Amino acid sequence: MSTIKNQPTIFVIFGATGDLNWRKITPAIYNLYLGGWLPEKFAIIGTGRTSYTKEAFTDKLLDGVNQFSRKGKAEKSSWEAFSEHIDYLHADVNQDEGYDEIGKSIQALKKGWNTEPVVIYYLAVAARFFPVIATKIKQNKLEGQPEKTRIVVEKPFGSDLESAKELNHLLCGIFEEQQIYRIDHYLGKETVQNILAFRFANSILEPIWNRNYIEHVQISVAEDLGVGSRGQFYEGAGLLRDMIQNHVLQLLCLIAMENPVNFNADEVRNRKVDVLKSIRRFTPENIKKNAVRGQYGAGWIKGEKVVGYREEKNVNPQSNTETFAAIKFYIDNWRWHGVPFYVRSGKRLNRKMSVISTQFRDVPHSVFSEDILDNWRQNRLIISIQPEMSIRLQVQAKKPGIEMVLNTVDMVFDYELNGAQESPEAYETLLLDALQGDQTLFMRGDQVEAAWELLMPILQSWQSKPSLDFPNYEAGSWGPELAEALIAKDGFHWFSSLH
Ligand code: BG6
Repeated sequence: MSTIKNQPTIFVIFGATGDLNWRKITPAIYNLYLGGWLPEKFAIIGTGRTSYTKEAFTDKLLDGVNQFSRKGKAEKSSWEAFSEHIDYLHADVNQDEGYDEIGKSIQALKKGWNTEPVVIYYLAVAARFFPVIATKIKQNKLEGQPEKTRIVVEKPFGSDLESAKELNHLLCGIFEEQQIYRIDHYLGKETVQNILAFRFANSILEPIWNRNYIEHVQISVAEDLGVGSRGQFYEGAGLLRDMIQNHVLQLLCLIAMENPVNFNADEVRNRKVDVLKSIRRFTPENIKKNAVRGQYGAGWIKGEKVVGYREEKNVNPQSNTETFAAIKFYIDNWRWHGVPFYVRSGKRLNRKMSVISTQFRDVPHSVFSEDILDNWRQNRLIISIQPEMSIRLQVQAKKPGIEMVLNTVDMVFDYELNGAQESPEAYETLLLDALQGDQTLFMRGDQVEAAWELLMPILQSWQSKPSLDFPNYEAGSWGPELAEALIAKDGFHWFSSLH
C-alpha cells in the first residue's frame, strides 16, 4: 500500500459522461478513496462529447455515487474533498484537439506535483472507439513511459476471432502487453476470486478435484433482466459473445485450471490459457449435439408481464439473435478426461443466479437399504457467486431421530456471516489492481483470442443458419426445452436452486 500511496496517479476516463462511469467507475474510485487506497496525489480527468462545466459534471457523478455506491449516499465533506480531484474536458475522440487538452492537463499536474505520475487511460466507450482512441493517444504522444502508463479496455474485446486479433495487433503496436488491462468484471467479483483461494489454499480438495471423483460440473449464469435499452448493441452481440466468450469461460477456467506455481499474473493466466486450449473443438457436425440456443418470448417476471425479445426497443422483429445458450464442453487432459462441463446463460430467465455446481461420483457401493435412500443425493460442491455469496458442500447425514433415515445437509460458508458487508465491488478490486499494476485479474491478449477461437464454429453456425423456432422460451422460465434435453440425455438435470 505504501508504494501506491507514493505513486501520483491520473485517471483519464474516455466516455466519462456515460452509464459505465456514472454507475460503476466513479463510485468505485470514490470508495477506494474513502478506504484510503488512493495515492495522496491523484486526479480524475473525465472526457466526453457533451459539454459540461466541471460543477455540472461532478454533480452528475455525485448522483451516480448516491444511487449506486455500496456505501450509500456520499457524505458532503468527503465528496467535496474528493471532487477537488476531478476535472472535465469536452473532447471528441476523433479529433486531435481533445487529446491536446488532455496532454496539457497531464503536463500541468506533472509540473504541480513535480514528479512523473502513473497515467491510466480508461476506455469506457463503445468498442468501435477503442482503435481510434488508442491510435490518437499514440499520435498525440500521450503514451508516456511503459512502466507509468496503462490502458484499461472494457469488453467486448472484438466481436469474433479476427476482430479481436486486429484489436490486439493495434494495441500491442502502441503499448506493451504489460500496459494493457482488458476487463472482465466477473474476475473482480469477491466470490470468483475466492475460487482461487478455495482451490489452491486447501489441501483436502486437490486429491478429489479430478475425473476420478467429479462426475460433472455445471455453470449457470442466469439473469431475469431483459436487454432493456441495449437492444441495438445486443442485436450485434447475442448471448454467446456477451456472456459465454468472457464471463462463463473465465469461471470454467478457474474451476478447471491446473495449480499455478505462484500467483504471478502471467503464471495464473498461462494456466487458464492451457484450459481453453484443451477444450475439445466444435465441428459443424457436433455443434447440434453440444450447443443449444434460445430467444425469449413474452412472459412473466416477478409478477409483471414482459415483452419478448423481438418486441424490445431497437430489436429486429425477425431477429435471429440468441438470448440464451447452453453448451457442453469436454476438457481433453488427464485431470478432466470424460467429465462433462455444462454451462448455460440467458436473459429473462427465472431469476438472477450465478452458480457453479460440482457433482461428485456416487459411492461405489451402498450399505443402506432401499427404503432409507429416498433422499439420497450424490455429494455436491456449490459455489454461489450471486446473489447469494456462499460455498456449500452437500453431504448425506443421518436425520436426527430413532430411525435410520438419511437426508442431505449443507455445510455452508456464508459470506454474509463472514463480513460480506465489507466486500468491495468488482470494479473497486479491478481499479485498485490497475493502480497497483497487477494484471492477474485481467485478460491477456492470447486468452481472449483462445476463447474466441473455441467459440467461432458455434458463432458461425448460428449466424449462418437462422433458428426456426425462435422465440423458444418464455420469459421467466429456465430456457428452452432443448437445454433440458442437452443435459438429460447424459442422465443429469440442471440445478436451479442451491438446495
Ligand atoms: C455484462 C453483459 O458483461 O454482464 C450484460 O454485457 C450482463 O449483458 C452483465 O447483464 C451481467 O453482469 P452481472 O455482474 O450483473 O452478473
